[in-house]
Amino acid sequence: MFEKLENADFKKFRDLIYDSSGIHFTEVNRPILESRLKDRLKKSNLNTLGEYYNILISQPQELKVLLDAVTTNLTSFFRNAVQFHALENEVINQLMASKDEKVIKVWSAGCSTGEEPYSIAMSLKEKLDRSWRIEIIASDISFNVLMKAKEGFYPDNKIAGIPPAYLNKYFVKTGGGYHIIDDIRKIVTFDYHNLKYDSGLRNFDVVFCRNVIIYFDSKAQMEVINRIYESMNPNSYLFIGHSESLFGMNTKFSFVKLGEACLYMKK
Ligand SMILES: C[S@@+](CC[C@H](N)C(=O)[O-])C[C@H]1O[C@@H](n2cnc3c(N)ncnc32)[C@H](O)[C@@H]1O
Repeated sequence: MFEKLENADFKKFRDLIYDSSGIHFTEVNRPILESRLKDRLKKSNLNTLGEYYNILISQPQELKVLLDAVTTNLTSFFRNAVQFHALENEVINQLMASKDEKVIKVWSAGCSTGEEPYSIAMSLKEKLDRSWRIEIIASDISFNVLMKAKEGFYPDNKIAGIPPAYLNKYFVKTGGGYHIIDDIRKIVTFDYHNLKYDSGLRNFDVVFCRNVIIYFDSKAQMEVINRIYESMNPNSYLFIGHSESLFGMNTKFSFVKLGEACLYMKK
């Protein structure tokens, strides 16, 4: 097993990860990459980084496992409450007024363990009557988080942020946690997707891509944002993380402020 990730190896693995996902490792987070590589070598019974690199470039499945291992999956229900306030009180009303068909399509890109798409689903369910069809696609590059998301089970320590009325209405209490009810689960479709590539999905009215591009460099950020733009309908809304910004980026999105929430529109 290697002791320390030398410069040449750091660059090799950093570039491979960047080229295949947009995730950008800097000097600051080099120790994270080192520890994930050690873990993968141990689990694959390998001694050298050279052997592991050769496996990565010849076996797409192992590359997926490594990408999964280097992602940060922190999330929570109704994360950044002002954005959900804007969704429930402004965005949905504006969509209801502007849509020809009674269908609202949402994409949660980089959905992690499901808290974000399920929060969106609950907000939409609250506001739209049964004559509306709600479709939510939730995607991620990590198979581990997608598996947990599909299960829809959240331990007691993960439910902070859910308004009590929603918890009563949309969850069933089981030993040690809560299960999301089928009525909500069935409007969310989880799928593997790497934002490095075009998903081929189109006609979204709302896209959440929050706390994902923060791990990319500016070139990869712009490519992802422009691809997302192509997937959206006219008069649609993009939510990004509150510490992220499209400022200075060459995109066609218009900045809008709805209440306290900052978001973007494809006009
Ligand atoms: C910090 S979590 C954010 C989850 C949620 N959007 C939120 O704001 O709470 C970032 C997620 O983006 C995913 N991710 C990172 N790079 C990705 C890529 N290239 N394609 C798709 N998902 C990616 C990670 O696996 C992770 O689950």
